[in-house]
Amino acid sequence: MHDLIYLDNAATSFPKPEEVYAFMDSFYRNYGVNPGRSGYDLSIETGNIVENTRKLLTSYFNGTDPNRLVFSLNSTDAINLALAGLLEPGDHVITTKIEHNAVLRPLYHMSLYNQVAVDYVPFDKNGFVDPDDFIPKFKKNTKLVVLNHASNVIGTIQPVKAVGRLCRDRNVMLLVDASQTAGKIPIDLKDMCIDVIAFTGHKSLLGPTGTGGLYVGEGIEIKHTKAGGTGVRSAERHHLAEYPYRLECGTLNIVGIAGLYAGLKWLEARGINEIHQHEMGLCRKFVDGLNKITKTTTHCQNDLQNHIGVVSFNIDGMEAVNTGTILDGEYNIACRTGLHCAPLVHEQLGTDKIHGTVRISFGPFNTELHVHKAVEAVEEIAEYYLK
Ligand SMILES: Cc1ncc(COP(=O)(O)O)c(C=O)c1O
Repeated sequence: MHDLIYLDNAATSFPKPEEVYAFMDSFYRNYGVNPGRSGYDLSIETGNIVENTRKLLTSYFNGTDPNRLVFSLNSTDAINLALAGLLEPGDHVITTKIEHNAVLRPLYHMSLYNQVAVDYVPFDKNGFVDPDDFIPKFKKNTKLVVLNHASNVIGTIQPVKAVGRLCRDRNVMLLVDASQTAGKIPIDLKDMCIDVIAFTGHKSLLGPTGTGGLYVGEGIEIKHTKAGGTGVRSAERHHLAEYPYRLECGTLNIVGIAGLYAGLKWLEARGINEIHQHEMGLCRKFVDGLNKITKTTTHCQNDLQNHIGVVSFNIDGMEAVNTGTILDGEYNIACRTGLHCAPLVHEQLGTDKIHGTVRISFGPFNTELHVHKAVEAVEEIAEYYLK
């Protein structure tokens, strides 16, 4: 294995647990047939892995009906499915400036082409939206609030439950983008008043790319925007209304779902709270290290309460991309630089003017040595390259 220090887990977790690779390999060799399409034993057994993964995810989100857990390509695909299936011309949506382009762009397109009006709630200086700021934005035609559970730029965990309560009081639906939190912290749809949650499989759930989905709360009906084969009731001309078929069609990514299953099992065995504590411990050490370097600025990282292990910083006077290139080229440290697909975060922080930030994001396999080497590298870069 290469000696790369991988600190880009917010983009995708890497490496995956050995168990994920091994399970995908053996599953695809032994069960790689089409699930739910045929009646022979192997097809049924393949289908069982899909259904068991639905069950594990449903239980993780504290949903009640595994059929309402639908698989998609990733959270971007899931969010698109939800928005296109929930919104109609004339609807109003409230979202925030902390969102990823997976939310911002579909909503922007809908505001341009589908007569959907969108309002944006800003975040405070610590990187959190204030639920009170949503109140004046609700209108008679507000149908949906879309909220990021945790920022992929600054790592702040948003007050979903308080916003969810406001939505429930007004009979407005809440769609949460849990791309950065699913698999990292507990998520309870019922307690948090979430109607629809979008997740991606390849980040903290430790599955492979090409996996993700939605849990659609009871009583919420998302219109299907795709139609096709479901493997059941093929004589019906109209696409099936019941979940999961309502939002799934065509052959599923079974090897991906099998990997996601193994990732979930790994998380269950290790404990997501323990992993989160581990990542936050590293994050604390990294931020403390950066704070000792005079020429760096961190963004919204003063108090790491209600945070995930994602840190954005800049070496003062140096373009983020240059810092990233030196970290990669000279120190073999992989991180991400730029706007991180969340342009409004940078617009509000003012980091758009300096082409974004350097983002370091921790995963279960990072160590204190990685933190030590990363801090040392940033210190050297700040010292020597800025002379
Ligand atoms: C907050 C947030 N939303 C959505 C996404 C999109 O995830 P995916 O690329 O898996 O669709 C990401 C990925 O970085 C993210 O961080």
